[in-house]
Amino acid sequence: MVIFGASGDLTKRKILPSLFNLFVSGGLMRENFFVTGVARTRFDDASYRLLAADAVRKAFPSASGADLEAFCEACHYIPGDYNDDGTYAALGKRLGELSLLHATQGNLIFNLATPPSLYGPVTGRLGANGLILKGDSTKPFHRIMVEKPFGTDLESARELNRTMLRWVEERQIFRIDHYLGKNTVQNIMVFRFANPIFGPVWNSGFVDHVQITVAEEIGVEGRAGYFESAGLVRDILQNHMLNLLGLVAMEKPASLDAEAIRDGKSAVLRSIRRFDPAGLDRQIVRGQYAAGGGEAGYRQEPGVAPDSCVETYFAARLFIDNKRWKGVPFYLRAGKRLGRKETSVTVVFKNAKDCVFRESGIGHPPNRLVFSIQPEQKVSLGFIVKIPGARMCLSGQNLEFSYNSLAAAPLTGDYERIILDCMMDDQTLFWRKDGIEESWRLLTPVVSRWQSCPVPEKQRMMHLYPAGSGGPAAADELIRRDGREWL
Ligand code: BG6
Repeated sequence: MVIFGASGDLTKRKILPSLFNLFVSGGLMRENFFVTGVARTRFDDASYRLLAADAVRKAFPSASGADLEAFCEACHYIPGDYNDDGTYAALGKRLGELSLLHATQGNLIFNLATPPSLYGPVTGRLGANGLILKGDSTKPFHRIMVEKPFGTDLESARELNRTMLRWVEERQIFRIDHYLGKNTVQNIMVFRFANPIFGPVWNSGFVDHVQITVAEEIGVEGRAGYFESAGLVRDILQNHMLNLLGLVAMEKPASLDAEAIRDGKSAVLRSIRRFDPAGLDRQIVRGQYAAGGGEAGYRQEPGVAPDSCVETYFAARLFIDNKRWKGVPFYLRAGKRLGRKETSVTVVFKNAKDCVFRESGIGHPPNRLVFSIQPEQKVSLGFIVKIPGARMCLSGQNLEFSYNSLAAAPLTGDYERIILDCMMDDQTLFWRKDGIEESWRLLTPVVSRWQSCPVPEKQRMMHLYPAGSGGPAAADELIRRDGREWL
């Protein structure tokens, strides 16, 4: 694996530790493997190995000395500018030697952990210098992994696709969304399609609405430079949340083939009702954290403009205009610096119109199915029981399955899973060209409107919330107008 951006934060926090984890996880990736880091910093092999060892130790403080030494031995480094052909010439020469040394038969994965503006230029230079060969050759294979954000709007995403596809085939591009590497996210599909009892109720006849939440306690964590031009809709909704929505709402795929699954998700994205830029406030609420609970507000974070109108929170109501989901609202919300970390998908079922208890005036909460993705990984189904006693009183209880109870099966980390799938040539968990463009087609009018509207209107649309709270009141209004509550 060649990592561009080899001394950056993503490489240190995620890529190197994940590669190490695969390296020590019995048989997944031990032999015939090497890493070549490329970046501007003037490291050599020895100093890069120190960086790698440090990154791994931070993630796995108990990593054994022998394993770490063996892993670091497989790490190499080429310093150079990404826009200089000399870098690619040196890299090509080195890769030839390392392929022989590590007996990797010329198979290469290029992992672009660089700022997004470099995805196109680096791919172009890899192609022009003959390091990556177009064609889905399996012997040797050349694949390319790119992180999000893939584009910043529809046009830039299309342009990036066009640039990359000049040099490689779609089959060689692995557009990462690390959410899809999470076990509980993959479980949504298993749950829906391996348990036939849920099939008949997975539609507007039975489902009242769906809520998807991605709440984080952290703020922008030193990423103000990126965040100031991105905002949370680009950071979380365009990728992670639309992927979650796709898995919840898609039709049953014809097979487990990567194309069939990605066809299903793209079809959902195409059916989402477009936002009307005129009445945006009623469809999507923007928020930003202010100081609270001893934490600074977003505008006080280093690198953030003191009058920044970038959203660190949003709440949206979407409709999927197809037969299955006609009239069912999907409420999506995400935010930074909220009271607690929680990622979940909740399907709220309708209460039966002819329920005998309702007729006799005994109220009860609706059935709910909750996929908890973080911090706990569990599935729970809310149902109704009678409270012991002479009177007929009902209460909601949960049937619960927690992944912790499957102690025998270690949970593979999301990045490990993604790297492994790329090595095994399985694109199921990666965005396809049409999906990514469809996601931007939906959201570009929203982000463009927010960016281009006059400052007073920007300020009017921005709802501040105290750090550590549950988000802005306007988000509660959004769902309350429909007679519902956030769960
Ligand atoms: C990243 C976003 O894609 O996902 C971050 O850029 C966010 O802003 C992170 O914090 C959340 O990932 P996870 O796996 O911690 O939920």
